[in-house]
Amino acid sequence: EDTHTDTLRTPIVAVLGHVDHGKTSLLDEIRGSAVSEAEAGAITQHIGATDIPLDTISRMAGELVIPDDFDLPGLLFIDTPGHHSFSTLRARGGALADIAVLVVDVNDGFQPQTEEAIDILRRTGTPFVVAANKIDTTPGWNPQEGEPIQRSMEAQSERAMSMLNENLYEIIGQLSDAGFSADLYWRVQDFQKNIGVVPVSAITAEGVPDLLAVLMGLSQRFMKEEMAIDVNGPGEGTVLEVKDERGFGATVDTVVYDGVIENGDEIVVGGQEEPIVTEVRALLQPRPLAEIRTEKQFEKVASVGAAAGVKIAAPDLDDAMAGAPVRVVRDKPLDDAIAEVKAEL
Ligand code: GTP
Ligand code: MG
Repeated sequence: EDTHTDTLRTPIVAVLGHVDHGKTSLLDEIRGSAVSEAEAGAITQHIGATDIPLDTISRMAGELVIPDDFDLPGLLFIDTPGHHSFSTLRARGGALADIAVLVVDVNDGFQPQTEEAIDILRRTGTPFVVAANKIDTTPGWNPQEGEPIQRSMEAQSERAMSMLNENLYEIIGQLSDAGFSADLYWRVQDFQKNIGVVPVSAITAEGVPDLLAVLMGLSQRFMKEEMAIDVNGPGEGTVLEVKDERGFGATVDTVVYDGVIENGDEIVVGGQEEPIVTEVRALLQPRPLAEIRTEKQFEKVASVGAAAGVKIAAPDLDDAMAGAPVRVVRDKPLDDAIAEVKAEL
């Protein structure tokens, strides 16, 4: 039987933005994890991937996400570094994305890597929403743990609201200067024409229900309208990191963005010198809600369908490269798969 046919492919949501604006913290809030705290200087240095299942999204979003309204299995979030020296990783994360969240510190507004992220999204034509993060740092803020933003705003003083609104309209103005018409998300009708701004806090989770609801709505529309993807075809992916794994040697942490990869598949992976042709020995999947960068208890699975993060164990991967393509050969001629990998390097 086939488990990949009845649902839409899991959308890939890239999280982009300036250093320290709270990308990893937002994902930590959604995952119930503390990845950001474990990072040296809270600086993200690699691309991450986390699968968030629909039931988690609907639990966090409460009445804002009704699971029956969606045939998406969940969302695959891609965390990216905001530090200026990692522009290659930001571009790579942006290129993988179906949709994106641009995280902006509501007090700091647009910063250099916010602009850089906007350029990536414009270049790739990726629909996105803005998470105006750290609203809890507004002077006099009265935190409403985990509440939708409207309810949280009702609990604020006039003074706190006017400071927050001033910051939010600053960001809306900066988006407009960058050529995007934008508004607070509850005033936006068509999220592909206008950028929705969602006020959130990664620490108090206020507005996180709204952010998840907007992302689900945007993905559902986008996946139905734009994506004609063969979810059962030979898998295609991108290497995030090459890592030694006990008992397996060199492995590649990979985002599979199309098709299916199966244990035993012949694959071609971009290498330092030339494409590596090898055979999958094990597919190691992170648990749902786990960040592939920090996961230690991978589960051995027989196949993985897009979109997903998976650690691929196979012989001869020592020379594989971060950012390199991965192609399952299956029914196509090996030479074609090799040519595809070469063309992408
Ligand atoms: P890079 O990956 O290095 O680009 O940073 P990042 O965008 O992932 O930022 P990170 O999530 O690591 O957060 C940076 C700092 O801001 C941490 O100390 C967080 O605790 C803090 N922070 C993040 N979001 C919030 C928020 O909503 N409110 C408050 N008060 N602090 C936050
Ligand atoms: Mg980070």
